[in-house]
Amino acid sequence: MKAIEIRNKYLDYFKSKGHAVIPSSPVIPENDPSVLFTTAGMQPLVPYLLGEKHPAGNKLTDYQKCIRTVDIDDVGDNRHLTFFEMLGNWSLGAYFKEEAIQMSFEFLTEVLHIPVEKLSVTVFAGDEDAPKDTVAENAWLKAGIPQERIYEFGKDDNWWIAGEEGPCGPDTEMFYDTGKPACSEHCNPSCGCGKYVEIWNNVFMEYYKSKETGYTKLKQQNVDTGLGLERMTMLLQGKQTPFDTELFVPTMEKLKELAKIDDINSRRIISDHIRSSMMIICDGGMPSNTDRGYILRRLIRRLTRHLNKLQISIEQFNNVIDITIDNLKEMYPELAENREKIHKVILEEQNKFMRTLEHGEREFEKAVKRARENGQEIISGDVVFKLYETYGFPLEMTIELAKEQDIKLDTTEFDKLFKEHQEKSKMGSENKFKGGLAEQNETTIAYHTATHLLHKALQIVLGEHATQKGSNITTERLRFDFAHPQKVTKEELDEVEKIVNEQIQKDLPVKCEEMTLEEAKASGAMGLFESKYGEKVKVYSIGDFSKEICGGPHVEHTGVLGTFKIKKEEASSAGVRRIKAVLLK
Ligand code: SER
Repeated sequence: MKAIEIRNKYLDYFKSKGHAVIPSSPVIPENDPSVLFTTAGMQPLVPYLLGEKHPAGNKLTDYQKCIRTVDIDDVGDNRHLTFFEMLGNWSLGAYFKEEAIQMSFEFLTEVLHIPVEKLSVTVFAGDEDAPKDTVAENAWLKAGIPQERIYEFGKDDNWWIAGEEGPCGPDTEMFYDTGKPACSEHCNPSCGCGKYVEIWNNVFMEYYKSKETGYTKLKQQNVDTGLGLERMTMLLQGKQTPFDTELFVPTMEKLKELAKIDDINSRRIISDHIRSSMMIICDGGMPSNTDRGYILRRLIRRLTRHLNKLQISIEQFNNVIDITIDNLKEMYPELAENREKIHKVILEEQNKFMRTLEHGEREFEKAVKRARENGQEIISGDVVFKLYETYGFPLEMTIELAKEQDIKLDTTEFDKLFKEHQEKSKMGSENKFKGGLAEQNETTIAYHTATHLLHKALQIVLGEHATQKGSNITTERLRFDFAHPQKVTKEELDEVEKIVNEQIQKDLPVKCEEMTLEEAKASGAMGLFESKYGEKVKVYSIGDFSKEICGGPHVEHTGVLGTFKIKKEEASSAGVRRIKAVLLK
């Protein structure tokens, strides 16, 4: 069965069970600056898992494009991918464990026709936070999984949470037996020997974990499930790796034909990284030296190094991009729609990097030789830093080079030099910022403070999801973009306007404090958390009303703002609304 058929069967099955099919969100999260990429289907649904009403109802299904880069260095083996598709079904306080398990079982055995003997499952064993999941266990027994193939594990295996805080709960995982011999008499789904491959996870989200207060029960009992499409495709086709399925074969074969060197690891790395780079670019990502942009840069630079290793030119690679787009466009039409942009962004980044790649590699070779001549098995931090700064080698790439040469790197020294370098560039950008301030005038500063009041008022009236998506200020007006799924009503706008004007009339003091990003987050400050952990940020408070991470400047008291008036509310892009407002003196 091809991947697209599995996807369609999944969505059709859950549609037949009363689920609304919703579209995949972008891989770059729309409302959540605290995470780099969408890593699971539940991520865009967090507000609804917490109790907000979803416009499509309380039973949902979708395919979600996901990027997970924690395993980026393992891509090239036979199972890690940086981009994958997660099929999911959700109950937002509708059905719970029994029904979810019954549907999972039916889908696997009756739609995908997986023999029951191939299936094992795991359930939560229970601990001080939550009891053993006997409901899940009984549901599996009732479905037809015999007791000896139902395993119990603790939080490490059978509890799911994205990160450290958020909606979470016990899960039950389904495993496919590949038929490989057991690794020992204790071989089980969690041993990792490869006999059992996890195919689906049902999370029963009825808890919320907060760092301060621990576990509390959510308003509603949710189900969140995730089935990895590439892995399921591989198993159903009896293939050893996802790279052997139709999702990758045309790209892998073209690379093999073009390469002058036979290296399957490099071919896998390139095939994987093209997919994830293309998806990030389609959803608006651009290579840069920070956060998301840095991951994209790393992906493109790494694949470029491997192309170079295989002696495939950039021109030849253009053709590989087209083959990959053509192969995947039925599943992801956005790839074909963004064909030119994908080529342009990848090519520009490659050209930038190609100029220095070979020099950098030569520099590295020389350093290895020097170190070995001196009887050392370690490359000094300043070489690693020079490769980063002068030749544009992401640290991870130098680590990969070192592994290939079986030599160590002094990363502690690198970290020190890197921090010093960051400090210097930060000072540079602060000076630039100061320059910018000279152009600020009383009017734009007042609009800036009004923007903070508006942001907070929107969250009060519309809900916490109404976070800032963009802002633009002139001497004539402010423009503010924020996340919200539908038109803001006249009554809501009136309420927002009223709240802002009340704060102005109160003549609240505006205060600025400097703190680390962690302290700012802990103090409840809103804002785009683009800074790095540990970095100092400025937090502006307006009385007790609003608190936001922001570079400033602001007025000293809100009384000087005059009267706030909303002039227009309109759509900005999907899920984003725009308000234009003025201050009348
Ligand atoms: N959120 C769970 C996971 O990522 C189930 O979708 O595994």
